[in-house]
Amino acid sequence: MTDRSWLLRAAKSDDDVLLSKFTCAEPSVGWQLEVQEFIRLGLADWAFDPHAVEGDPRLLLALHAPSGELAGVAAHERTILQAVSGETFAATKLEVVALAAAWQGRRFESGERASDVLMSAVMTDISARVPPRDARVFAIVHEDNLRSLALLRRYGFVEELSRPHPEYRRVITAHKVLDH
Ligand SMILES: CC(C)(COP(=O)(O)OP(=O)(O)OC[C@H]1O[C@@H](n2cnc3c(N)ncnc32)[C@H](O)[C@@H]1OP(=O)(O)O)[C@@H](O)C(=O)NCCC(=O)NCCS
Repeated sequence: MTDRSWLLRAAKSDDDVLLSKFTCAEPSVGWQLEVQEFIRLGLADWAFDPHAVEGDPRLLLALHAPSGELAGVAAHERTILQAVSGETFAATKLEVVALAAAWQGRRFESGERASDVLMSAVMTDISARVPPRDARVFAIVHEDNLRSLALLRRYGFVEELSRPHPEYRRVITAHKVLDH
């Protein structure tokens, strides 16, 4: 257990240096390395791509305040989904949620899980975007990534869309009636 000592903030363009050393993967697990490589090499470009402004990409960082160490990252963007009926609607793609290896499985002194603090922060950020796009939020996750699937389930990602790849699941929140 550890005291609640995180600073949560939106990323800045020069955070690529911090991101380039982020370690969240077991070196022997391919799908974990893929997430890590994307965070290290692609996430800053994804967040600050001038051609992607339309998608309102958001990258949040959790920093351990005393050490400045990057404890977690979470990113999301606006997207459009199409219902079976053909109707389209605004939704959010959760691009990534990851804790640094040293923070995985940990709780703060309050009993809160580190994963919950990070996930709550990103879900709150999604709810606060204007125009609203939290009617539905989805994520694409490797089928063996059981910890991510369990975390997402805790936040209401209980439905499933078609798989974008045989090994990857696309989980989505149930439709929420927006009150804003
Ligand atoms: C996904 C992640 C944020 C979850 O945080 P965590 O601190 O590791 O895990 P949590 O404490 O939230 O526990 C997740 C659940 O998985 C379970 N779990 C833990 N280890 C497990 C394992 N090896 N196998 C199966 N389930 C496991 C926990 O018991 C918990 O279950 P519960 O929700 O029923 O209580 C973290 O593992 C991570 O950053 N992983 C690497 C990055 C990644 O793959 N991100 C996803 C791509 S978007």
